[in-house]
Amino acid sequence: MNTTIDVTTTVKQPRAVERLVVGQATSDGAGVKLTRVLTQNLQRRLDPFLMLDAFGSDRPDDYIAGFPDHPHRGFETVTYMIAGRMLHRDSAGHEGLLDNGGVQWMTAGRGVVHSEIPQQADGVMEGFQLWLNLPGRDKMMAPWYRDFKAEELPRFKTPAGVLVTVIAGRSHGVVGAVTREATAPLYLDVHLPAGTRFEQVLPPTHNAFVYVYRGEATVAGQAVPAQRMALLANAATSDGVVIEAQGETRLLLIAGQPLGEPIAQYGPFVMNSQEEIYQALRDFRDGRLGEAG
Ligand code: FE2
Repeated sequence: MNTTIDVTTTVKQPRAVERLVVGQATSDGAGVKLTRVLTQNLQRRLDPFLMLDAFGSDRPDDYIAGFPDHPHRGFETVTYMIAGRMLHRDSAGHEGLLDNGGVQWMTAGRGVVHSEIPQQADGVMEGFQLWLNLPGRDKMMAPWYRDFKAEELPRFKTPAGVLVTVIAGRSHGVVGAVTREATAPLYLDVHLPAGTRFEQVLPPTHNAFVYVYRGEATVAGQAVPAQRMALLANAATSDGVVIEAQGETRLLLIAGQPLGEPIAQYGPFVMNSQEEIYQALRDFRDGRLGEAG
């Protein structure tokens, strides 16, 4: 899908940038080097989002070991592969190859054990993994999984040539690959040619951020360089965001409805209470976490 649509929306009260955040270099899985852009201390501020990792390297040692079998419970993971090939396998019987431009959406629900293993010995591996919380009532739901090839993702172009991939939510009338009621996530990949702008309507209550991964954006007069996350201020009067680019720029625009529930996290388990975390640990230890039924 790649249609040109007339972008008539006008954002009148654009959100300001509250602050810029630099990611933290870390490693996860069996030693995959990555940048944790959305860290645990921002979970409350960016509710319903729990984590955003950016990975990007052309050195196989940085990614080759991948993420061997590990569990998740209580939230959703959204993996967006810009470049590279990764194979996913999980205890719910799902298997999928994620490659250039593809998205994998996994709802861990009551639990999955899965692996994410690179299917390449060299070349560039680049992408993102976003963790999206589930409301308490859905944390123990059955696991769900879908993967989308790049060409299956809804996409549109503005008359100025801004290319927008709608991974989740809705943008200028285009409905994304995935929609969710409780958290109403918006997940856009926006490619701006030099000298263009893009507007997106956002409900004022939604928490929102921009992550620039190529070039440099300007949001409400504030420059946002590559590898920076701009937290967008929540003001009752604001109706959206306006993003401009002097040079060619690529970024993620992510927003969602906060759940306002307690967040209890222990590694790959995100529940509402400590007791539910202990239960997840017991279930994992007893081999009940990835069980069907
Ligand atoms: Fe995982």
